[in-house]
Amino acid sequence: MLSLGANDVTKGEVLFLKLCWGCHHPTAEAFGPSFQTIARKRTNSEIQGQITRPDLLYKQLGYTRNAMPPFTLTSEELQDITKYIQSFK
Ligand code: HEC
Repeated sequence: MLSLGANDVTKGEVLFLKLCWGCHHPTAEAFGPSFQTIARKRTNSEIQGQITRPDLLYKQLGYTRNAMPPFTLTSEELQDITKYIQSFK
């Protein structure tokens, strides 16, 4: 079970607005898939792998090219952004 702290979701949202918003939207398809689509089909480790090493994950996730840049986040930031994404499930 995923326990959602409201505080972590807020921190995740701040990261989203700063780093991901140009290409992802919470519920609508944009340049990248929506966070809702992602939350419904991916595990936390797939999400975190894609954020940190999209060059290693994109094929496993079914993409033919890697159009997303890698992000260097602290493990706390990774947890926060993952909780934020999973909150749209
Ligand atoms: C420059 C545009 C861009 C930015 C910025 C970006 N992404 Fe992406 N992302 C994409 C695209 C495009 C894909 C689809 C895979 C591909 O084509 O490389 C993707 C795929 C993903 C996936 C996997 C999708 C799936 O099928 O499960 C996740 C998770 C993800 N992005 C999370 C993030 C997060 C979190 C951030 C911010 C920290 C972020 N992305 C920033 C463009 C971007």
